Amino acid sequence: MISYGKQSIDQSDIDAVVEVLKGDLLTQGSAVETFENDLHNYFGSNYTCAVANGTAALHLTALALEWQPGDIVITTPMTFLATANCIVYVGATPDFVDIDIVSYTIDPNQVEEKVKDFQSKGKKVKAVVGIDYGGHSCDWKALREIADKYDLQLVNDNCHAMGASYLGDKQYAVKYADVVTQSYHPVKHITTGEGGAVLTNNSTIDETVRRLKNHGMTKDPNQLVSNNGPWYYEMQEMGFNYRITDFQCALGSSQLKKLDQFVKKRREIALKYDESFSNIDTLKIPKPHNSIEHAYHLYPLQINLDELALTKLDFFKKMNELDIDLQVHYIPVHLQPFFQQNYGFNVGDFPISESFYRNEVSLPIYPDLLKDDVALVVKNILEIISS
Ligand SMILES: Cc1ncc(COP(=O)(O)O)c(C=O)c1O
Repeated sequence: MISYGKQSIDQSDIDAVVEVLKGDLLTQGSAVETFENDLHNYFGSNYTCAVANGTAALHLTALALEWQPGDIVITTPMTFLATANCIVYVGATPDFVDIDIVSYTIDPNQVEEKVKDFQSKGKKVKAVVGIDYGGHSCDWKALREIADKYDLQLVNDNCHAMGASYLGDKQYAVKYADVVTQSYHPVKHITTGEGGAVLTNNSTIDETVRRLKNHGMTKDPNQLVSNNGPWYYEMQEMGFNYRITDFQCALGSSQLKKLDQFVKKRREIALKYDESFSNIDTLKIPKPHNSIEHAYHLYPLQINLDELALTKLDFFKKMNELDIDLQVHYIPVHLQPFFQQNYGFNVGDFPISESFYRNEVSLPIYPDLLKDDVALVVKNILEIISS
């Protein structure tokens, strides 16, 4: 079965993990710091904290940015649940802004409209969380300008775009957002099994994230209320165990060395899909903005199902019979029963995301996908839509 996404593991990854397994420390050892340094070197963040997964990274970000009940935090409906859930975890109020019709990322003009709309009702938006959907960076320049103008915090849930560049810069994420979160789930560009990180140039945010990922504990003599000896620690605030292990980090460091190569392979596959589908009226390929170099975590193909008199279910079934397992990214978050019941969102609230969802299928794309398999995916899609 050809899946839509999958990790690429080679002998060097296995060797790196085995080396840690043979050592003394499986967790809280030096491989964590090494991975953090490697991430710092690649992404250019002053502070980098590796954590248990991307959701933990988002939760810790929400806590470090002190989102609280009453705070409004805006994100896009076209994301994974975790992005919106982290707002709910801390009791803040999630709201959404629709996507731009070309980049499928949050539309800065609509963000500004929404912020002004809240302002006119005497309410202040606390933060905006952008998602570099599928590997296409948001319009971060515009979002930063809005954040500065209205005093908003800016977060980049960046895990789709590792290895992408924006305005010619692969280290763009921390230059525009106050906090950047990543996930190293196996379908992402690099993997640690489960894993994630919080990247920032703000030392206070980093210190809080480090404390809260480890139960809110501190051993720092400057922060202790009393200091009774070398064993002594204090918990001064509520925290979690969101630590990542050393063997996961060893895998992460090994994977990161290959990130550029992985992205190159993804781009080659995307190019093949582009060439195969660009001239077909009923299909719409992703069109990267000229300010970015796409990282293709996803290849979201839009199929005009109505015109083809085809249902998505039938399309999925037909591809599945041919051993091709597609996915859809995403069911717009505001359509989830939880968000409808608790926050009053309805069908029709974010029409661009909803129509994108209706037509979107994520095609298989990952570095180890064989050329023959790409050709098979193309051939089958062309046959299904012309039958
Ligand atoms: C946009 C986005 N944010 C957050 C997450 C959560 O990451 P994790 O699965 O590592 O918790 C994901 C994972 O799929 C994601 O795609």
